[in-house]
Amino acid sequence: MKKSVQNFIRFISASPSAFHAVQSLCDMLDAKGFARLDEHKPFAVVPGGKYYVTRNRSSVIAFAIPEGGLSHFQIAASHSDSPTFKLKPFSEEVVCSKYLRLNVERYGGMIMSTWFDRPLSIAGRAVVREGGRLVTRLVDLGRDAVLIPNMPIHFNREVNDGYKYNAQVDLLPLFGGADAKGALAAQVAEACGAQAQDIVGYDLFLYNRMPGSVWGAQNEFFSCPRIDDLECAYASAEAFLAAVPQGHVNVLAVFDNEEVGSGTKQGADSSFLADVLSRACAALGMDESAQRAAFSASFMVSADNAHAVHPNHPEKYDADNRTFMNGGVVIKHNANQKYTTDAVSCAIFSQICSAAGVPVQQFSNRSDVLGGSTLGNIANAHLSMNTVDIGLAQLAMHSAYETAGCEDLDHMIRALTAFYNAQIETCADGEYLLG
Ligand code: CO
Repeated sequence: MKKSVQNFIRFISASPSAFHAVQSLCDMLDAKGFARLDEHKPFAVVPGGKYYVTRNRSSVIAFAIPEGGLSHFQIAASHSDSPTFKLKPFSEEVVCSKYLRLNVERYGGMIMSTWFDRPLSIAGRAVVREGGRLVTRLVDLGRDAVLIPNMPIHFNREVNDGYKYNAQVDLLPLFGGADAKGALAAQVAEACGAQAQDIVGYDLFLYNRMPGSVWGAQNEFFSCPRIDDLECAYASAEAFLAAVPQGHVNVLAVFDNEEVGSGTKQGADSSFLADVLSRACAALGMDESAQRAAFSASFMVSADNAHAVHPNHPEKYDADNRTFMNGGVVIKHNANQKYTTDAVSCAIFSQICSAAGVPVQQFSNRSDVLGGSTLGNIANAHLSMNTVDIGLAQLAMHSAYETAGCEDLDHMIRALTAFYNAQIETCADGEYLLG
């Protein structure tokens, strides 16, 4: 198995929720000597320093400041969340006096059928009373705990003819026998080392327990949960840590809540990125005008996975701008600017990839297919700069078990390392020098 894929599959199993994914990223940053900054305190930032900031513990921004002042920022942004089901505040329900099931609601737009008949677990965070303080603890039951059973085909003859699932009826997971009532609070408490009565709030989600797998005639593919978008988050973190900043500030940004529109305090549609970067500039003594100049000369890569042609439905993809697994980094285009890519950002990023020997593919949707959206244009509304939308071509996006190409993770790590190492110098509006 390729080393990078092996490491990524390990990262996925350590990251069952967005909170865990951000913790996994912080662990990587801690291991490389990055210092944690707190948003509620003044930023003490010095040239040569390496820092990261979390917001809500589900989004993280890391940056490394070169010695001798900064010219601009080079940012790779991705997202920490994936479609799943969230437990409601009162979640345990006894059914027929025999079963205990959990009341959950959808988080994001998953392919519902993929969540049936597989062992699931529960992870997220709890807020715990500890003396006079409220503290946040990660929670992961870490075992096969619940399952959403299908109806037998004998009672649901249309299941293979386009059955419409009702999230309040069909998708509630079975947790135990009726006599297990109360087990959820007890098990969540145990998972975070607290007493059940001290848990005063939680954000808990279902996750797929199936481990990652490398497969195919020549081990071409791998499958695991949450490839969208932890593959880009992981690749950008690896690249960020491998790069050596030269005169600009490299930034790793991983936002929560992309799957529900980014409109939260920690999402891409918040002040998080602008707050962190302007405070870093201010701590270095840059005035408002110097900060605006640095932002204007900055460049963002919005990295969120892309669609590989489905082998059974090649007709769904554009004839000329279609992408395949193991074909390299995908640059995404959309005339209506759901993707930020334009001639300038595409040219700059393509040149960087080509110089690094990384293959690049171009993606556009068929003109009669709506397609998805991502966080690049949302982040741009808060902090505007040249931005390119990229990703890796994958199958079954938003399935509980997604598939990608084994060669591509290295393609992305190499492309983003080259991006972070490149010096993108702005000479005039529309004129750039790549060093
Ligand atoms: Co995504």
